[in-house]
Amino acid sequence: MKFIVITGANKGIGLAVVEAILREQTQYAVILGSRDRGRGEAARNELLAIDPAWSDRVEVFELDVSSDRSVSLAAERIAERREGDSLRLAGLVNNAGAINGSIAEVLEVNAYGIRRMCRAFAPLIEEGGRIVNVTSASGPNFVARCDADRQAFFTDETMTWERLDAFMQQCTGLRSLDTLGMGGGAAYGLSKACANVLTIHLAKQYPDLVVNACTPGYIDTDLGRETLGSRTPEEAGMKAPADGARAIMKLLFETPRGVGHYYGSDGLRSPMDHYRAPGSPEFTGT
Ligand SMILES: NC(=O)c1ccc[n+]([C@@H]2O[C@H](COP(=O)([O-])OP(=O)(O)OC[C@H]3O[C@@H](n4cnc5c(N)ncnc54)[C@H](OP(=O)(O)O)[C@@H]3O)[C@@H](O)[C@H]2O)c1
Repeated sequence: MKFIVITGANKGIGLAVVEAILREQTQYAVILGSRDRGRGEAARNELLAIDPAWSDRVEVFELDVSSDRSVSLAAERIAERREGDSLRLAGLVNNAGAINGSIAEVLEVNAYGIRRMCRAFAPLIEEGGRIVNVTSASGPNFVARCDADRQAFFTDETMTWERLDAFMQQCTGLRSLDTLGMGGGAAYGLSKACANVLTIHLAKQYPDLVVNACTPGYIDTDLGRETLGSRTPEEAGMKAPADGARAIMKLLFETPRGVGHYYGSDGLRSPMDHYRAPGSPEFTGT
């Protein structure tokens, strides 16, 4: 059995990806990452209520992506089982996300969390395995408001971790995001722009793996509802979590056109510096 690890999988889009794998990819099992074990077990029980036969294919791991200790403990457990030959790791979905909190707190989960997970788990993934970073259209929308130099930074094919880390550290000290070539906006958009350019870097760092990012679309989840204002999910055009799983499933199980790219919710490649609406022509630039 091949395993896929999914972070923040106790609800929302992460849980929908778990369910999609259980339904559609019968030769795969899932490690359902949850920062709270109880919430993870409750999510597993929800799945087993749908189909008790899934019980051998879904396991809960306590996994807080903002904690070095939590991430390394989970990776150690997997490494032990891998050596004992009871587990083949085929992929990682960096889905956990935060929208509220300070710039530092949001970056910690949405950008540093991805890097932390990749450092610990990428060496355990078999050759040709997948890493999918769940980012957001908020990333390209944030970059579109930046000046030309900052836009070039956010799409830089030669991005290094040192440069990105130094920039993110500068950002954590800011009161607002209308300096350093940025055009204002929220910590969430900044964090997703950082996660997209981090994806470019990670694809180069792990050439034996297929590393990409995508947006799930505008999805009716707790996090999504934070953006509604006075609108209802219907008025805002939100889709169901199962719809949000589609682009992620595509990047996990189909052959994407390349690596280090960002894809739209329709599964087609999108630019990292401006929004491409689903259904419009695929981005083919560099
Ligand atoms: N919904 C949308 O419209 C939309 C659009 C674009 C992108 N996204 C992205 O999709 C991803 C999933 O979000 P969602 O919409 O499904 O929201 P959600 O239902 O609120 O789920 C967010 C998940 O992330 C987990 N999480 C938060 N901080 C964590 C941490 N430090 N360690 C581990 N897990 C953590 C949450 O755990 P708890 O339950 O313990 O809080 C929860 O499981 C996020 O990356 C989000 O940015 C969503």
